[in-house]
Amino acid sequence: MWVKDRLAAYAALTADYLRDRFGRRLREAGTPETLIAPMEYSLLGGGKRLRPALCLAFAELHGLPPGKVLPFAAAFELIHTYSLIHDDLPAMDDDDLRRGRPSCHKAYGEAQAILAGDALLTEAFGVMAETAPAVPEKAVLTALAEAAFAAGSAGMVGGQMLDMDYTGASGVSLAQVAAMQAKKTGALIRAACVCGAILAECAPQDVDRAALYGQSLGAAFQIADDILDVVGDETAIGKPVGSDQAMGKNTFPSLAGLPQSREMALAEADTAVRAVADHDGEAARFLRELARYVVDRVS
Ligand code: IPE
Ligand code: IPE
Ligand code: MG
Ligand code: MG
Ligand code: MG
Repeated sequence: MWVKDRLAAYAALTADYLRDRFGRRLREAGTPETLIAPMEYSLLGGGKRLRPALCLAFAELHGLPPGKVLPFAAAFELIHTYSLIHDDLPAMDDDDLRRGRPSCHKAYGEAQAILAGDALLTEAFGVMAETAPAVPEKAVLTALAEAAFAAGSAGMVGGQMLDMDYTGASGVSLAQVAAMQAKKTGALIRAACVCGAILAECAPQDVDRAALYGQSLGAAFQIADDILDVVGDETAIGKPVGSDQAMGKNTFPSLAGLPQSREMALAEADTAVRAVADHDGEAARFLRELARYVVDRVS
C-alpha cells in the first residue's frame, strides 16, 4: 500500500536520526547511562513515527527537503515518546504494555521512567534549535514556540489533565471529549503539520491549511485510537485492549457507540483531505491518503 510504504520511509529517516545523531548527542553531553537506557528503550522500540512524518511532509509540500527539517521533525517523536511513558504510569493509565513490550516503568521502575520522560521532553527543544542555521533562525524560533505551546499546559498536558478529570466521571458530553482530545492528541499533531509549513517559510494561508489538516487528522486519529482500544488486536496495536473501559475513560465509543464514532472519524478525515486538496505532488498525495488510512488502520 503506497501510503504505508511512504510512512515507513519517513519513519526510517526519523528512526535513523534518533538512533545515530540523537544517541551521539546524549552520550557526548555526558548523560548518565542509567538515564540513556530507559530513554532509548522507549524511543527506539518501534512506533509509527506519525508526527515526524507529518512535519517532513508539510515541509516537502512547500519545497523544503526532509534533510533540512529532520531534527525538528524527530523532536516531535521525543515529545510524543515522553508523553507515552508518562501516560502509562500507574498514576495515569496504568498500562503495562507499550509498542509490544513492557512499558518503560515496568522495565525500569517508576523513577527511571519519570526521569526518562522529563529528559526526552527537555531535549526536544535543544534538538529543535539545531534546525538552524539550515533553516533561517526566525522560522525556527516561530516553529519552536508553536511546538512548546502545543506540548504545554493549554495543549497536550492540559488535555491529559482533562482526560484524568473525566476518568470515572458521569455526565461528560461528546463535545467535552472532543475538546479534551483536541488538546491531548490534536495539539501535537497539529503542531507537527504547522511547524513543517512554518519551517518551509510558506504563506500564512498555507500555515492555516496545515493547521486545519492537523487538527482534523488529530481528531480522526484519536477517535480511531479509542475504537482500537475496543476492537483492536493486542499484538497489532502493541498495547492493552480494553484499557479505556477498565479505567472508566470517557471516549467516543463509550459515549456514541462504535458505528457513529467511525462516521465522525471519517468526517474529520474528509476535512483533512480538503485542506490539502489544492496541492499536487507526492507529499500532497501522502497527506490525503494518510487521512483515510488513520481511520482504517489496525495498529
Ligand atoms: C498513541 O499514539 C497515543 C495517542 C496519542 C493516540 P501513536 O498511535 O502514534 O503511538 P505510536 O507512536 O505509533 O506507538
Ligand atoms: C494518550 O491517549 C494521549 C497522549 C498524550 C499520550 P491514550 O491514553 O488513549 O493513548 P494510548 O491508547 O495509551 O496510546
Ligand atoms: Mg491516556
Ligand atoms: Mg493511555
Ligand atoms: Mg488510547
